[in-house]
Amino acid sequence: MLYSTRVHQKLEALRDRDPIILGIETSCDDTSVAVLRGENEVLSMCTNSQIEIHREFGGVVPEIASRNHVKNIAPVARAAIEQAGITLEDLDAVAVTCAPGLLGALLAGLNFAKGLAFSLGIPYIGVNHICGHINANFITNPGLKPPFVCLVASGGHSQVVHVKDYDTYEILGGTCDDAAGEALDKIARQLGLPYPGGPEIEKFAEDGNEKAYNFKSQFNTNKQPNFSFSGIKTAVVNMLQQAKRTEKEIHYPDVAASFQRAVMETLAYKTVLCAHSADVKTIAIAGGVSANLKLRSLFEGLSKKYGFEFVRPELQYCADNGAMIACAAYHMLKKGITSSLDLDAKASGEMPKHL
Ligand code: KG4
Ligand code: ZN
Repeated sequence: MLYSTRVHQKLEALRDRDPIILGIETSCDDTSVAVLRGENEVLSMCTNSQIEIHREFGGVVPEIASRNHVKNIAPVARAAIEQAGITLEDLDAVAVTCAPGLLGALLAGLNFAKGLAFSLGIPYIGVNHICGHINANFITNPGLKPPFVCLVASGGHSQVVHVKDYDTYEILGGTCDDAAGEALDKIARQLGLPYPGGPEIEKFAEDGNEKAYNFKSQFNTNKQPNFSFSGIKTAVVNMLQQAKRTEKEIHYPDVAASFQRAVMETLAYKTVLCAHSADVKTIAIAGGVSANLKLRSLFEGLSKKYGFEFVRPELQYCADNGAMIACAAYHMLKKGITSSLDLDAKASGEMPKHL
């Protein structure tokens, strides 16, 4: 039977029941595969992290990441299927991150997903990575429904997105230069902390005084929806260089805590501003940086002060993971959206307004 006919039959069968979706994420340095039933029942999630491998280079080396994804994708997928207590034949669809990300890394996941979907005769769904991060919120917060505003803050992106419907998005604001995670990673390096810098800065900041330095810029406190991290970064670097020249002693945890405060306050303030102007009452967060406890507590305080609901993903669904990709695919499937097998990976790419 033709692949398209088998997919059509599967879609017909899924009208009456919840699908079991295999979600694959390989856009950066994590090979992550999850099995999801329905919107939010994670049957398994297996992740192979390459952090230790890339740490010695101070960041992700694309070629090394791609090679490791190729090596790891089949065993990680097999482990996810086994841990879910299902067989390949139980899968109803295969979902995979198709953009944006490192091209070679994306292709490793994409080609595996295509081969699997084709051999099983089930739908194949290419998912935008940022859209995946946003969907992590549906896993942890059953009952959450659009519309809401979501801050997506990761190593490659920092955007405030109006989620109007499961397949309709509008970008309300975002960074003019570095992503929040990127800025954290760069300053962590200046402080002699290993990659990835975000969690290291968070740990280091625990022993610091966050009011020791004021790294805030005027641009980040104005009423425009966009923000910038280059000024904050330069302020930190200049201060460190001057201290070195004048042999002034610096307590590094104070720098980490003050820098973290400047970044997180910027993200929280601009997100609340965007939600207010869009007249939306629910705010969500997503992406690696959304694991940050300072950011979470800022949003908790602001939600009480301004009367909006604040939702966030469980920590394990903040960083790149297969479950969020499966969840995004679930909503696409419900809207009748599947991908053609000739869908290609893209390194760059804005989140589409309509999926
Ligand atoms: O979403 P993600 O796992 O990968 C990308 O799509 O980029 O985000 C990775 C970023 C890194 O820059 C990392 O330093 C940052 O998220 N990050 C954090 C925390 N955990 C990870 N930043 C601040 N606080 C954390 N706890
Ligand atoms: Zn990500």
